[in-house]
Amino acid sequence: MRVAILISGRGSNLRSLARACAAADSPARIVLVVSNNPQAQGLDIAAQEGLENIVLNHRDFTNKEGFERDLDSVLTKAGAELICLAGFMRLLSPWFVQSWRDRIINIHPSLLPAFKGLETHRRALEAGVCFTGATVHYVRAEMDDGPILAQAVVPVLPDDTPEHLAQRVLLAEHQLYPHTLRLIAQGKIHLSNDRVKIKGVTWPNTTVIAPALVTTTDSDQK
Ligand code: GRF
Repeated sequence: MRVAILISGRGSNLRSLARACAAADSPARIVLVVSNNPQAQGLDIAAQEGLENIVLNHRDFTNKEGFERDLDSVLTKAGAELICLAGFMRLLSPWFVQSWRDRIINIHPSLLPAFKGLETHRRALEAGVCFTGATVHYVRAEMDDGPILAQAVVPVLPDDTPEHLAQRVLLAEHQLYPHTLRLIAQGKIHLSNDRVKIKGVTWPNTTVIAPALVTTTDSDQK
């Protein structure tokens, strides 16, 4: 499967996807990296990983439609069959999303539908949730909306800061995104009534409770 990656910044998810796609048995190949930001660190990562990369600066266009028309054209020319958003900070217009429907995926640093938008880790801490995580989902016109493909759960620790939590969620993202891309490229994922169905996978069946059910210290507390 020919994959294009869209970035705006740091590019750590791009790196994890690139490394996974470089494996001899990978069913996905990255054919193009596009950054809307000429300063994106991810451009250096793309170059280090030997990936074709271009800058399409949205500021060089008089309107959003012009930017997206060019984006559409470079992706089509590259023969992209799937677009992975990896820290791409522009909301795509409904016409663009519609023309790539079910062929664009995104990674978001929360357990969607909770905490859509920015500053997810600060908001998760403020809400007092015991678990957060990351979600890979198909993209729809609404921000951080669309059928959920896969999720990773990360416990929130009692003394967490947004920065520490972000680091642990990011590590989970680096496992989750390549895993999900592989399932798609293997043809194991289908949509039925806008719900994701996955064939030939195993599912975790453990319940995780926080605080943990540790009994050894119970008597100490009496
Ligand atoms: C990640 O946290 C991702 O979930 C979010 O933007 C961030 C991008 O990080 N959509 P990076 O550029 O991949 O390092």
